[in-house]
Amino acid sequence: MKRISLTQHLIEEQRLNNTIPASLRLLIEVVSRACKTISHAVGKGALGEVLGSAGSENVQGEVQKKLDIICNDYLLQANEWGGHLAAMASEEMETIHPIPNRYPMGEYLLLFDPLDGSSNIDVNVSIGTIFSVLKAPEGMTTPTEIDFLQAGTRQVAAGYAIYGPQTMLVLTTGNGVQAFTLDREMGSWVMTTNNAQIPEETKEFAINASNARHWHPPVKRYIDELLAGSTGPRGKDFNMRWVASMVADVHRILTRGGVFMYPADAREPDKPGKLRLMYEANPMAFLVEQAGGAATDGRGRIMDIQPEKLHQRVPVFLGSRSEVERVTSYHRQD
Ligand code: AHG
Ligand code: MN
Ligand code: MN
Repeated sequence: MKRISLTQHLIEEQRLNNTIPASLRLLIEVVSRACKTISHAVGKGALGEVLGSAGSENVQGEVQKKLDIICNDYLLQANEWGGHLAAMASEEMETIHPIPNRYPMGEYLLLFDPLDGSSNIDVNVSIGTIFSVLKAPEGMTTPTEIDFLQAGTRQVAAGYAIYGPQTMLVLTTGNGVQAFTLDREMGSWVMTTNNAQIPEETKEFAINASNARHWHPPVKRYIDELLAGSTGPRGKDFNMRWVASMVADVHRILTRGGVFMYPADAREPDKPGKLRLMYEANPMAFLVEQAGGAATDGRGRIMDIQPEKLHQRVPVFLGSRSEVERVTSYHRQD
């Protein structure tokens, strides 16, 4: 097998399509290097004393795990000094993190969910890191939260690392989706999928069914039809999978198709779903669209949403295009 490294891919992509200037390449390489460090820490588990709760809460009132904080620190430290960033924002930090004055300020903004799938850390199930890259607005001198509030269509890169049986990096810079597998002995990312495409035909769906009694009618209708199987209106049997790490559920869908849903529900009208627009929904929507799929909030395209708050939550329906279109059309008819 001819081995194409992440670096080679980034350089050739720039040469061919001019989509990855040197500072963006540095950014992606720095993030992917931090993900290697995280992968190593995750792999140590109890031996590295990284499991368990940190005994604190994040701005969203969620209990932080030790790894949530460790991974956040790794990403901050790795990205501070390179001169490629103006500021960072994270699911685990209340406010933005401007680059300290002692380092040069760059033109990009980096957002991340340092550790996705926190409930799976202590049970040795796949978890990940999700990131999204925006350009700082023209003329920005001191970054503020407002500079981050850009629609997903403005992302210049997005991706995730998944820490599973293999560690993989899945990336888009707006020209398809490439996946790299970490060669642990060599410490390098090797391309193992070029131009990933989500299969259109699917028989698999992902939703946390324990929330069924709270679902709104369009979601209930859609899931009831899937559950009715071959004798129902869909005329075929569906299978259900829910890892409870968005990274792992999206990775399965990028690999073999399917639809992933985290809807808003009737419990807390002021809390539109669980997932966060800037750290989870937008980067995953960018990847899924680049792989031929679709991503909506049940009504419109996720990447068209104009963010109002850094930690904003949003309902998510993503994956195989026809399924996402169907569940979205049920919302529009409602
Ligand atoms: P995080 O660990 O970053 O807080 O994200 C967890 C998210 C997402 O990864 C997953 O799809 C979902 O929460 C799982 O939710 P349930 O606990 O409702 O299954
Ligand atoms: Mn998450
Ligand atoms: Mn997280």
